[in-house]
Amino acid sequence: MPNILITGASRGIGLALTKRAIARGDTVFPAVRKEADKAKFGNHPNCHPVIMDVSDTASVENGFAEIDRLLAGKPLDVVINSAAISVPGAVELASMDEYQQTMNTNVVGSARILKYSIPRLRGHDGRVVLITSLWGRASNPLLGSYCASKHAIESLADSARREIGGMNMHVVLVEPGVIRTDMYELQGQEIETQINAMSPDQRQRYEPIYRRYQKLVGGPKGDQTPNVGISAEKCAEGIEKAAFAANPRRRYRVGIDSKVVCLLADLLPASWMDFVLGQSLNNKPL
Ligand SMILES: NC(=O)c1ccc[n+]([C@@H]2O[C@H](COP(=O)([O-])OP(=O)(O)OC[C@H]3O[C@@H](n4cnc5c(N)ncnc54)[C@H](OP(=O)(O)O)[C@@H]3O)[C@@H](O)[C@H]2O)c1
Repeated sequence: MPNILITGASRGIGLALTKRAIARGDTVFPAVRKEADKAKFGNHPNCHPVIMDVSDTASVENGFAEIDRLLAGKPLDVVINSAAISVPGAVELASMDEYQQTMNTNVVGSARILKYSIPRLRGHDGRVVLITSLWGRASNPLLGSYCASKHAIESLADSARREIGGMNMHVVLVEPGVIRTDMYELQGQEIETQINAMSPDQRQRYEPIYRRYQKLVGGPKGDQTPNVGISAEKCAEGIEKAAFAANPRRRYRVGIDSKVVCLLADLLPASWMDFVLGQSLNNKPL
């Protein structure tokens, strides 16, 4: 049975991946940020939670050192980086701190995971799976920092894959569409908070597009979430194809929305994509 590290294991897709790995009998190292979250996985002999904050190099290094100690010479086979953050907001209004936090967590976090995974996975068909998004192939309004970060991870993975050719390991990207987790379901609330913090002038310019986005993601309290997207468990199944395929592809798209939007982004000129992705949110009065 494989030995697997899963980051961002406290919630959402990472938690679903961890539960499935435990049920299969894999040896799993779910990585969480908070000591208290280690209790989420129960007391299973093959499950060894570790602390890893992907936005902090020392934390990632210490997490891998702890896994080395626990593996005691056995190989690490698969690393799945599910940790990420996503804060919606217009480019003009978002704070630069927020951009730095998103880039440090999502992009530099993926680089940290690659840096410490590659020496441990090469030579025995190991795999690093980086989870990006359909927003790593197309760019939605109000998701500028997130889309930029996911595009950057796509590029980072392409570079890494071209460097490790011949090392008997794989770097694989998974591009999910909408998945029903906190990341999607809390966006309506976040949008409400941001509208309340706008000046009258900002409200006039931006409230209509924010309200349209809020409608798409399900209302201010997250209690009207539309029945779109797939469950974290279904997404985990798709990610496992990337992790365990005999000859993994470079990219896996999970969910029909991801397949359609990524295909359109590959085929259509930018002016058409402006129409497709701008249409539902464009800044006309409500
Ligand atoms: N949900 C979607 O619609 C969707 C769609 C496409 C792609 N994705 C991608 O799928 C992956 C998982 O998303 P999700 O929906 O499961 O998100 P989620 O429910 O919001 O969970 C995010 C996870 O990342 C962890 N995390 C955040 N910052 C971290 C850091 N600095 N270090 C370590 N862990 C950190 C969180 O830990 P804490 O509990 O400590 O905060 C949590 O475990 C992400 O890469 C996301 O971009 C999601």
